[in-house]
Amino acid sequence: MRLVLVGPPGAGKGTQAAFLCERLGIPQISTGDMLRAAKAAGELAQEHVDLMAVGGLLPDEVVLALVAKRVEEPDCAPGFLLDGFPRTTPQAAGLDTVLAQHDLALNAVAALDIPEDLLIERAVLRRIDKRTGRIYHLKYNPPPAGAELEHRPDDREDVVRDRIATYRTMTADLLPFYAARGLLRRVDGVGSVEEVRGRVFAALGITD
Ligand code: AP5
Repeated sequence: MRLVLVGPPGAGKGTQAAFLCERLGIPQISTGDMLRAAKAAGELAQEHVDLMAVGGLLPDEVVLALVAKRVEEPDCAPGFLLDGFPRTTPQAAGLDTVLAQHDLALNAVAALDIPEDLLIERAVLRRIDKRTGRIYHLKYNPPPAGAELEHRPDDREDVVRDRIATYRTMTADLLPFYAARGLLRRVDGVGSVEEVRGRVFAALGITD
């Protein structure tokens, strides 16, 4: 299966991606995680670090190059799940080209729909365990004792609002792009993690 998860910041893409990848035995490719890892390794250009800090999108060619290289790795042979990529129609067209070069195509694109007030609460109270990479929420999914928690710098409320605005302007064309290709599955992202998990699996025709 080659899948894409789309949705605004804090929608629950990373949370649901973990369930899907575990069930399907495929790797999760999160461009946000890849960019944060590049930043931590001192390999991300300062202008791109600054852009992420204010909730802007990096240039299409930068993220496309990262993904094009990643999907060629052997663990992607059985499939993969893209989380947070593509975010623009040029990225989506670039992905199609990369996949076509390997005689591959996407199977489906799941889009999580969530109202803005919930997105802000989800992102601002998110914490990530540095050691395991697990995603927690101070209210809805509290971390266990002993977790080494990180608060993403772009999860400050003002930056989250800017990221949501960026999503609305930059990603607006993406859903019609995939709907026109018959790939889009819209999923109501409001509800518990388990409820949303059930809807995502059902929308993609995946059994438990
Ligand atoms: P990225 O890391 O992709 O961030 P994002 O898209 O803004 O998404 P998030 O990681 O914030 O949220 P999520 O949907 O994964 O939610 P999560 O599952 O964690 O990108 C960061 C930056 O990198 C971008 O701003 C940009 O600068 C750059 N970038 C990345 N990709 C790019 C691209 N393709 N092009 C250009 N630039 C790019 O859940 C959030 C919280 O809610 C958690 O605490 C979780 O526990 C909780 N939660 C989840 N589901 C539920 C539920 N059902 N009920 C209650 N709580 C829930």
